[in-house]
Amino acid sequence: MRDFIQRIRHRGQLAVVERSVDPKFELAAVTKAVQKAGEKAVLFEQVAGSDMTVVSNLYGSHARLCEIIGGTRNTFCQRWWSLMDSPLPFASASVNVAFPQDRISGRLSDLPAITYHGEDGGSYITSAIFLAREPDTGVPNLSFHRSMFIDDGELRIRLGTRHDLTRYQAKAEARNEPLEAALLIGTPPEVFLGACASPPYDVSELDMAAKIAGQPLPMMPCRSIALDVPAATEIVVEGRILPNVRRPEGPFGEFMGYYVPVSDNHVFEVLDVHWRLEPLYHALLCGSPEDLRPLEAVTAARIYKHVSNLVPGVLDVSCRPNVMITIIRLRKQYEGHGRHALLSAVGAHLDYNKVCIVVDEDVDIYNLDEVMWAFMTRGRADTRATIIPDVPGFYRDLHKDHWGRLLLDATSPWGRESEFVRKRVPGEESIRLEDYLRAGT
Ligand SMILES: Cc1cc2nc3c(=O)[nH]c(=O)nc-3n(C[C@H](O)[C@H](O)[C@H](O)COP(=O)(O)O)c2cc1C
Repeated sequence: MRDFIQRIRHRGQLAVVERSVDPKFELAAVTKAVQKAGEKAVLFEQVAGSDMTVVSNLYGSHARLCEIIGGTRNTFCQRWWSLMDSPLPFASASVNVAFPQDRISGRLSDLPAITYHGEDGGSYITSAIFLAREPDTGVPNLSFHRSMFIDDGELRIRLGTRHDLTRYQAKAEARNEPLEAALLIGTPPEVFLGACASPPYDVSELDMAAKIAGQPLPMMPCRSIALDVPAATEIVVEGRILPNVRRPEGPFGEFMGYYVPVSDNHVFEVLDVHWRLEPLYHALLCGSPEDLRPLEAVTAARIYKHVSNLVPGVLDVSCRPNVMITIIRLRKQYEGHGRHALLSAVGAHLDYNKVCIVVDEDVDIYNLDEVMWAFMTRGRADTRATIIPDVPGFYRDLHKDHWGRLLLDATSPWGRESEFVRKRVPGEESIRLEDYLRAGT
């Protein structure tokens, strides 16, 4: 993560806050303001109540995510699969290193106690990646789970209903055993991206991280549990999820933009906390671009793969500006091609893609204004919009608010493509306004 921050800093993409900020609301408010102003990451040099430097919005930029996987702008989906479909280029995804002697031991309460939203039930760790192993096979999994600070010995965590960690924990719990896990705060970017993805149950997300890194990951042993974790992790919290114990957690301002109420959730017993010299704490504002861009990117990659397997001509997929939408960029080859792409997208992810839109190849699918312009100008509303009722969607175990699907075919009418060639002003792309405007205007 440090190398990545250095690269961002050299390019002028790192905003630095020198003055002291309050971890309760002020840090989140400043992060939000930085995100409104652009895509810069932000570094807080002084956060009241902690000696740690805090960094945020590192991953709140699609361009930076493309860069992490070695792709160029808007090639995330293709590049992702060219990495993931290749076998590991080395014998093992990891190399073992000794526990570094210069790591510092501390307490959970030494970490910045960040409270993000007005009604949050307390301070939360939101960027932590849980590393655990499948109880029977030992396959490692990386996943995010918000964690509410209770005291130095306890976090309350939300596992979710369908995550791999939830299944691991249920298996351990059926045997009345705790599940060992480590919370990784501030990992190398490839570990962060590996954690965002949801590959099939038996796929190692550490293998995925190593494929992104292009080299085996150095792993160090934990001190209190039988797990190895990426040695470059800034802060590690070791512990275990207790079996058959649930305690109140929440409310919490979640990625959809609302609060989820208090509910009885899992309890994580903290056994050890340690960090690198001069650690960097990663703060992640839930529902902000730093939460959404990575989730959108890996979800789009998954849908891209599924739709491309069924339909020719799929150039790219985006799930922006919110992971509930799927936008497909298509090189149309036959009448009804767009509808084929839409129908295959519906089955590509059972939680998301509540709205699926297909556009021609001249539309920027990372810009919803452009996508809606295509729908407004390229076809009838009555025959180009399809509602599929009664399909379960996100949060289906709680309510039906996200049931159903809306499909929009925003491609040009078949056989009339020449009428939909976009007008342009010759030379418009190369205009540099500073060559024309009076200075200061
Ligand atoms: C930055 C980020 C934060 C996330 N935080 C949470 C969270 O707090 N709780 C949750 O249930 N899911 C969260 N998710 C969604 C998934 O848990 C996440 O993508 C998960 O790592 C998928 O892992 P799995 O499919 O291997 O179980 C988050 C996703 C991202 C990208």
